[in-house]
Amino acid sequence: MEQEPVITNLQDDEKSTKMLSLVSHKLKTPLSIINGYSEAILSQSAKEKFSPFTAKALEEINKQGTKLCNLVDKLLFFNRVETLQAKDLAKKSINLKNLIKTSANDAISHDEETATVSAGSSVSKKGTFIEIDCPSNLEIQADEEMMAFLLEELLTNAIKFNNKAEKIIKVQCAHHGDSISISVRDYGAGIRPQDVNRIFERFYQVDDYFTGQIDGWGLGLPMVKKIVELHGGTISVISDRGLGSIFTVSLPVA
Ligand SMILES: Nc1ncnc2c1ncn2[C@@H]1O[C@H](COP(=O)(O)OP(=O)(O)OP(=O)(O)O)[C@@H](O)[C@H]1O
Ligand SMILES: [Mg+2]
Repeated sequence: MEQEPVITNLQDDEKSTKMLSLVSHKLKTPLSIINGYSEAILSQSAKEKFSPFTAKALEEINKQGTKLCNLVDKLLFFNRVETLQAKDLAKKSINLKNLIKTSANDAISHDEETATVSAGSSVSKKGTFIEIDCPSNLEIQADEEMMAFLLEELLTNAIKFNNKAEKIIKVQCAHHGDSISISVRDYGAGIRPQDVNRIFERFYQVDDYFTGQIDGWGLGLPMVKKIVELHGGTISVISDRGLGSIFTVSLPVA
């Protein structure tokens, strides 16, 4: 008798998690090879000998390959977060301001433009400015990898859904009794009331003339919500179409 694939013995949720993981891993190896070779060719000194068309084609292959690789990585991370439980968190004491600075640098450098400049309590790049208002001694008890992802995701969204020539993003933290709040404010596209409650659904993206074509899966915010909840916190959004958004995460003081 033919042996059933292992995936069919699982519950629906478990099946889709396994399937996503399998597909992502299968895509990862050929993609790494494509990217590795195109990078190697592009970095050779003989590059100048290529015709402008060949050089442009290679650059495009590399750019799209890298994009695809990032998409697959996000899918793999989604799978990890989906199966994560509160008991799996590697909680420790983290300096919040330093974590925000690192995440701001990462969000800015993953954006597709020029170099990053970091000074004092702000992180900026040509046209993008992240202002950080956080007491230097504020510590949170959290899983550092998950919290860094959460902050980078909120900041990446604030940069991505923003077509202003000058993108100003403000991160504000405060300690109120038994909780710590972190809010990320942007002055970008904003979200319509009918979409605000849906943006935490898996694969939901608001796709219209305002934000243009969107990169990504629509998986960032569902993961952010899950990470906040695993830490016993809450997340809320205030948004005005055309004026911008404020995402506020509230974490209990452990
Ligand atoms: N700061 C923001 N301003 C305006 N719209 C936003 C903002 N953050 C999220 N959104 C809307 O919510 C949708 C869902 O966000 P989410 O981060 O889950 O997905 P994504 O950024 O489109 O893709 P991914 O995070 O998987 O790369 C976005 O597609 C966008 O329409
Ligand atoms: Mg996102």
